[in-house]
Amino acid sequence: NKVTIQSPATVANLVCGFDILGMALDQPYDIMEVRKLDKPGVIITSLDGFPLPADPAKNTAGAPLIEMLAELDQPIGFEVIINKQIKPGSGIGSSAASAAGAVVAANHLLGNPFSKEDMVRFALFGEKVASGVKHADNIAPCIYGGITLIRSIFPLDIVSIPAPRLYVTVVHPQIEVRTSDARQILRKQVLLKDAIRQWGNIAGLVAGFVKNDYDLIGRSLEDVIIEPVRSMLIPGFDEVKAKCKEAGALGGGISGSGPSIFMLSKDLATAQQVETTMKAIYTRIGLDHHTYVTTI
Ligand code: HSE
Repeated sequence: NKVTIQSPATVANLVCGFDILGMALDQPYDIMEVRKLDKPGVIITSLDGFPLPADPAKNTAGAPLIEMLAELDQPIGFEVIINKQIKPGSGIGSSAASAAGAVVAANHLLGNPFSKEDMVRFALFGEKVASGVKHADNIAPCIYGGITLIRSIFPLDIVSIPAPRLYVTVVHPQIEVRTSDARQILRKQVLLKDAIRQWGNIAGLVAGFVKNDYDLIGRSLEDVIIEPVRSMLIPGFDEVKAKCKEAGALGGGISGSGPSIFMLSKDLATAQQVETTMKAIYTRIGLDHHTYVTTI
């Protein structure tokens, strides 16, 4: 009655698809141990330095389990031990990894009574605790794997998008951007001409993934609505993007609500060159940073 799982980091938005597109990364991932208890309740223990709320109702792993248990209506509970490797506030789906991981592990221990869609529905309560808003663009790829489109949240409508092999380089400049703050600063209205351009990019990106068309993927990684506002929170953003493209990246942008920046490349050598470029920029600026080169 115990299981240990790896719950992966995710990149939400994929530049133009705010709140509707996301992809799972091979690494980093949280390691979570979940145990079924014979009495009701949820116990959360965090193994490392990151201060996570111990009250399960306020914890991104705890809140989804409380919802799951309420629906099950059995006198059981869960204990979760989280070894967090994905830094909270880094923009690569740390809260989603906790929420999705807890739900997937608990469902496994119960004999998988719930569907993937049910698990997304429960895990969304973790995002609500973390950022005040139920967005599924980290949760869905964390549970489904690969690239997912969240066509709708109410009702849930999740579509897996096939994609060619892609390498991902992520840089996390060591500042913290809270998702709630990064959402607060967004304008509530968009111009029709911007919306049209964004629709073109989203459709182009999805078509590029499906058709294995790397050039189309690269051209479509453009965001005229969210990035111009949020990029102001990330030192060096414009330079990182421009120089990484010069280094051969297909394109990229802010990962989720930031401050991490991700770039997609066609091959490993380019992805490593992109990493070198990112490191050089943040070393020059004098900002501590952490990088990953991984795949989807
Ligand atoms: N779509 C969300 C946002 C993702 O950009 O606010 C947060 O990780």
